[in-house]
Amino acid sequence: MSNPLPPRPCVLIIDDNITNIEVLAAALAKDYDISFATGGAEGIELAKKYRPDLILLDIMMPDMDGFETCRRLRNSESLPDIPIIFISALEEVSDKVKAFQAGGSDYVTKPFQPEEVQARVSTHTALYRARRALEAREESLRRNLQELEATHQQLKDMGGKLLQSEKLASIGQLAAGVAHEINNPIGFINSNLGTLKNYVTTLLHLLDEYEPLEIMATVDMQQRLKNVKQQADLAFLREDILELIDESLEGIGQVRRIVHDLRGFSHPCESGWQPVNLQEALESTLNVVWNEIKLKAEVLRDYTDLPMIECLSSQINQALLSLLVNAAQAIKEKGQIVLRTRCDDQWISIAISDNGCGIAAEHYEKIFDPFFTTKPIGKGIGLGLSIAYGIIAQHGGRIDVDSKIGEGSTFTIWLPIHHSQETEENEI
Ligand SMILES: Nc1ncnc2c1ncn2[C@@H]1O[C@H](COP(=O)(O)OP(=O)(O)OP(=O)(O)O)[C@@H](O)[C@H]1O
Ligand SMILES: [Mg+2]
Repeated sequence: MSNPLPPRPCVLIIDDNITNIEVLAAALAKDYDISFATGGAEGIELAKKYRPDLILLDIMMPDMDGFETCRRLRNSESLPDIPIIFISALEEVSDKVKAFQAGGSDYVTKPFQPEEVQARVSTHTALYRARRALEAREESLRRNLQELEATHQQLKDMGGKLLQSEKLASIGQLAAGVAHEINNPIGFINSNLGTLKNYVTTLLHLLDEYEPLEIMATVDMQQRLKNVKQQADLAFLREDILELIDESLEGIGQVRRIVHDLRGFSHPCESGWQPVNLQEALESTLNVVWNEIKLKAEVLRDYTDLPMIECLSSQINQALLSLLVNAAQAIKEKGQIVLRTRCDDQWISIAISDNGCGIAAEHYEKIFDPFFTTKPIGKGIGLGLSIAYGIIAQHGGRIDVDSKIGEGSTFTIWLPIHHSQETEENEI
């Protein structure tokens, strides 16, 4: 970054002859601050320390000549473009060319006219200062641009989150309505199917009781019964009817689960905010899904003591459950799930890692969208993560994802330790 320029330009004179220095200083002292050095090495040190606006440089000096001094000044990182005017008694064109090749900006021959030196110094310092001012402006524009880009990125991130919340909010309303409407019919279909199964079992039992009595019927009657049985394919019907009812009951069970998940979009009646030990919540949720996990993965725990925090506990359990089930489902045959808890002054984190299939780059953006799923029909409907997202947002937290295709995924839930009123009122 460029430093602000001092009000009066500063000229450094490097010359081994004190009289020359005095004459030059006398010519310039009115408009410039003057510093001087009587040798090349000393001059370079002073230039690095004070960063003058211009250097007047003698050529013939005992310790280091002006050409070498100029080259070193030009090679110094901190002084790349300070104007350097050679002042020398050498009049040969070849000396002048050498001076420019060494990086000189101008060349004045001795004896010099003070007015000429003044005019050249004035032009070069003005140009140098203008260039420095331009650089400073450029630097400040670059910084402004960076700030703007950062703000733009923040706005974009916020926009994405808002969009996600809006999507969830509208789906939530729709889902809550649909779920409410579907819930009643599902209830009676489920209960009727149960009763139907009992009735059918009783009827089949009755049929079993009747069958030995057929022998007592007339031959004609027996023939008619045999025909009816054959037409009805009674043997198959007997086998199939209970299977059909069981399948229907299973289907209804699945629909009930989906409706239950859908209702998770709205706020179901809750016991309210209460202090929760998240490690215990994680363990008890793990118990609930243990059947699904135990065949797929060994579970490793890396826990830290966590403070109790205010949560809607059943909601948090639901979010944890979705992440655990996803982790197990991501593992094809046998793998590992690692549960890691951490906390600092403000946040608690729960990370659930699996070494399963990972998430494809093109799916990354979509996994929190309602109904986005890569799983076969019947295995997933794509609600787990979007519900979890809403729940964690409602708690003032967030979910981070880190995943590599073929290597596995880590989903990290971040929750604030101090639960604010605002969080409580925060609608999904
Ligand atoms: N641990 C994970 N590893 C790999 N992919 C994952 C993981 N978790 C989620 N996904 C991807 O994100 C998608 C959405 O997950 P989400 O939990 O919302 O729905 P689902 O598991 O497909 O269905 P549901 O949870 O409703 O039964 C999944 O279908 C899967 O493609
Ligand atoms: Mg899921």
